[in-house]
Amino acid sequence: MTTPKRYLITSALPYANGLKHVGHLAGAYFPADIYVRYLRAQKRDVVFVCGSDEHGTAIPIQATKEGTTPQAIIDKYHTAMKEDFADLNISFDIYDRTSNPLHHETAQEFFKNLNDRGELEIKESEQFYDEAAKTFLADRYIKGTCPNCNSDRAFGDQCENCGRTLSPDELINPVSALSGNTPVKKKTSHWYLPLGKHEAFLREWILKEHAADWRSTVVGQCKSWIEGGLQSRAVTRDLDWGIKVPVQGADGKVLYVWFDAPIGYISATKQWALNTGKDWKPYWYDGDTKLVHFIGKDNIVFHCIIFPVMLKLHGNILPTNVPANEFLNLEGDKMSTGRNWKLDMRDYINNFVKQENGGGQCVDMLRYYLTQIAPETKDSEFMWKGFQDAVNSELVSIFGNFVNRTWVLMHKLCGGKVPKLHEDILDDRDKALVTQIQNSKVKIESLLEEYKFRDALFEVIDLSRAGNKYMQEKEPWIVAKSLATNPNAQKVIDNCMHLCLQLTANLAILINPFLPNTAAQMLHMMKVVDKMLDWENAGKIKLLSVGYSLREPQLLFRKIEDAEITAQVEKLKTGLVKPVETKMEENKKIETSNNSSLGDGGKPEIVFDDFAKIDLKVGTITAAEKVEKADKLLKLSVDLGFETRTIVSGIALHYQPENIIGKQVVVVVNLAPRKMRGIESNGMILMAEDASGKLHFVSPETAINTGSGVS
Ligand code: MF3
Ligand code: ZN
Repeated sequence: MTTPKRYLITSALPYANGLKHVGHLAGAYFPADIYVRYLRAQKRDVVFVCGSDEHGTAIPIQATKEGTTPQAIIDKYHTAMKEDFADLNISFDIYDRTSNPLHHETAQEFFKNLNDRGELEIKESEQFYDEAAKTFLADRYIKGTCPNCNSDRAFGDQCENCGRTLSPDELINPVSALSGNTPVKKKTSHWYLPLGKHEAFLREWILKEHAADWRSTVVGQCKSWIEGGLQSRAVTRDLDWGIKVPVQGADGKVLYVWFDAPIGYISATKQWALNTGKDWKPYWYDGDTKLVHFIGKDNIVFHCIIFPVMLKLHGNILPTNVPANEFLNLEGDKMSTGRNWKLDMRDYINNFVKQENGGGQCVDMLRYYLTQIAPETKDSEFMWKGFQDAVNSELVSIFGNFVNRTWVLMHKLCGGKVPKLHEDILDDRDKALVTQIQNSKVKIESLLEEYKFRDALFEVIDLSRAGNKYMQEKEPWIVAKSLATNPNAQKVIDNCMHLCLQLTANLAILINPFLPNTAAQMLHMMKVVDKMLDWENAGKIKLLSVGYSLREPQLLFRKIEDAEITAQVEKLKTGLVKPVETKMEENKKIETSNNSSLGDGGKPEIVFDDFAKIDLKVGTITAAEKVEKADKLLKLSVDLGFETRTIVSGIALHYQPENIIGKQVVVVVNLAPRKMRGIESNGMILMAEDASGKLHFVSPETAINTGSGVS
């Protein structure tokens, strides 16, 4: 393996439309940061770029949601994401943004270059158009059912559920996200990148050249794209938010976000070079540069097929590797912003890092756990219990314990100074430890070079485990008891403590890419400078000089208490919001809601406290009307004594509105509000279903006070 002259490392530019969660972190940011820190320790020439992706339909859609402007949205989330990454010690050389004028210029130049050289095609086609909103519906402005996984929350560009990239025409039952209407088709023309023309290149480059060194999940996805037939991809959109197409007569058209965003890696490099007085060009033009993109699996096609074709056409270098990660689930379920089932980076920062007993330790605990469960080859799972176990039984009990024991014993048995190594009495056990340190370094290095971060981290912990074992076998505290009688005793102790200290110094170097705060704390305890962390020092056992006095021990990690993780799980569960139901789902629910709530004896047993959470009251129906275009729904006003609620109920096939006014019913009062056909329903009415499927009210035997409790 020859060492390239320089490295350019990128992490996917996150959309500036919301906070990012730990799944993103595990996918594209922590792994890149580990790799970069390793390269820097190797003294390689490396630039690590990232920034906010501020175009595309995701931005104006979020602006509408928050009742503000797209500019306000990108400003807000760019700042927030930048802060969060800094809080978690992601060591970007630059965190740029695609609203940077330098980026607009760079992306336009790129487009013009390809267009002027005839590498793009202009085609007229029919695209979805919203007649009410008078606008074309690009990407996320169109929603529907995913042809791949059947999720009915897929967008015109991608299904968030299964990650599949889509085009609007593939959606089943497409509707406009603006008006909810079924769109019509209207003619428009756009610039296309004819991927088909580059099939031979892609086959050769990915399926032959990189078949062995890229992850099989990545090659597999590329293969299915290539075999599926490479269609021309539109690289412009009818939209007003984005980078203007730099051609006369292209009014109202902008570059497709996936055309401009990856060019953001180039503009970020330029901006970095401007800031630091360096030359950016070799990083994008010199063949001796190793370009590595860290991304999540939903970004594979863009980074392995589309962007490389663009780069090739533009005369740039191609990525050497694209170590994409699979997805991270959370507590048994897919992470989802829509359902608020996620752990935002910011939540972790506020709940742990910024707490009194938090700080760098807590950053490293998250870095540790997310690396240990990184979805490198398949989807994986974040479990709070798993987080606790990883911290308590590995970081605290193995790594932290070894370092702590070494320090305590060295103070106790060697006067707080690095003792001598007495070569004359080195035994096989001592020598085996030295060999293990050397072997570990070699192993960890090659795992890191292959982007196998979880395995590499495992090796580091394993080396600290070996340290514990060595110390346990050597028992210097027992040897110390024979100091008066055994003339060799102090020498034996010295050797053991000397090697444990040298091992600690090695552990600091090896853990540094993963847990930089921990490494820094270890340096402090050893009273040595950053330079010791240079990778070339790993594997050596002369890192700490004999006679050098060391600081008092400090605990590297704190334990995670049961209460802390229970609180997190509770928070997650109570924060779960029901998505605004789609029409299909709503109908399904109404069809089944009443019989499913009856139970068939198959539901799990609950305790009284579970039942007591449900607030049931007697209400009186004061008004009822049919819901337009929903033959099963009635909109009811129900007096509860203390207030009158609007409740939408699926009983229209069983009761006429005029016949139920004045009826007393039992209402679930504290049910979270739910929107049905645009009406917010605040509660649910209990119904009994007979064998024929007919629904009956559950009512008090005789009229009683409205608002009476039911239990
Ligand atoms: N914003 C995209 C996402 O979050 C990633 C863009 S990566 C880039 O999925 F290459 F386009 F920059
Ligand atoms: Zn899907």
